[in-house]
Amino acid sequence: MTKLLSLLLISALTFASFARADEPKGDALAGSKKIAMCIGCHGISGYQASFPVVYKVPKIAGQTASYITTALNEYKKGERRHPSMRAISKSLSDQDMADISAYYQELGRSEAAAMPAKATEPEGEAVALVQKGACTSCHGANLSMPIGPNYPKIAGQYADYVLVALRSYKADSQSVWGRNNAIMAGVAKQFSTDELAVLAKYVAAQQSELQTVPQNKFKFWAAN
Ligand code: HEC
Ligand code: HEC
Repeated sequence: MTKLLSLLLISALTFASFARADEPKGDALAGSKKIAMCIGCHGISGYQASFPVVYKVPKIAGQTASYITTALNEYKKGERRHPSMRAISKSLSDQDMADISAYYQELGRSEAAAMPAKATEPEGEAVALVQKGACTSCHGANLSMPIGPNYPKIAGQYADYVLVALRSYKADSQSVWGRNNAIMAGVAKQFSTDELAVLAKYVAAQQSELQTVPQNKFKFWAAN
């Protein structure tokens, strides 16, 4: 009995460490009313950003809510320096971020229900690079099952965005588009830009739970 109780206590404590008491709980419905600002970029398939190079705005529908919140906070704090996302995240409260993150996690789920994640085996040069970088040990065997709440799903993300993200971790001290993340800096610095491009192409080719769900502003307002 005592053994059982302590087991229960340990699991309760483990859960508690994932959802800290001071973090607001996300409400997807509330989030659906706070995304008008986002859909001009994240709600248009293949929409391109032009800084620091031309690349597609990342897919965020279907991403885990906890990672979306992590990323938004990193822009807000300046650990990720992309200028437009910094400005946008500064306008969001903790509650806004929690609601918007819950919304985007759900948005992917309803659209992707019929899409099981399946990895394709890496071929040629990609095999060695994925092994060298141990990508699957953190992002999951299919690159869609991250091992922690602050870790992203990356399978099927746009290749040009993945390459920009990897280069941003490598250039962690770059003042206008670098990203400070000790883990991914360590990973990205092992590779040349050409190798990062091979990795990005491989990541993008994996079956994805991520997507851009086209959202028309007028339809959106009519439905809400
Ligand atoms: C002007 C276009 C634009 C708008 C508007 C915009 N984003 Fe972004 N977003 C981007 C770009 C470009 C990036 C990639 C930045 C980088 O390279 O780090 C990005 C990155 C992100 C990321 C990180 C994704 C990842 O995989 O790490 C999240 C999360 C995000 N945006 C959420 C939002 C939310 C929520 C809103 C609305 C409140 C929003 N964005 C509005 C262009 C935009
Ligand atoms: C030790 C764990 C670990 C390993 C190994 C790892 N990653 Fe990551 N990865 C992370 C974490 C944590 C983040 C989130 C960093 C942040 O908050 O910006 C991340 C972020 C990323 C991103 C940015 C995603 C986005 O949406 O912006 C890409 C792309 C990525 N990793 C690709 C890779 C590739 C490719 C490999 C193998 C070459 C790899 N990772 C290996 C932990 C890891």
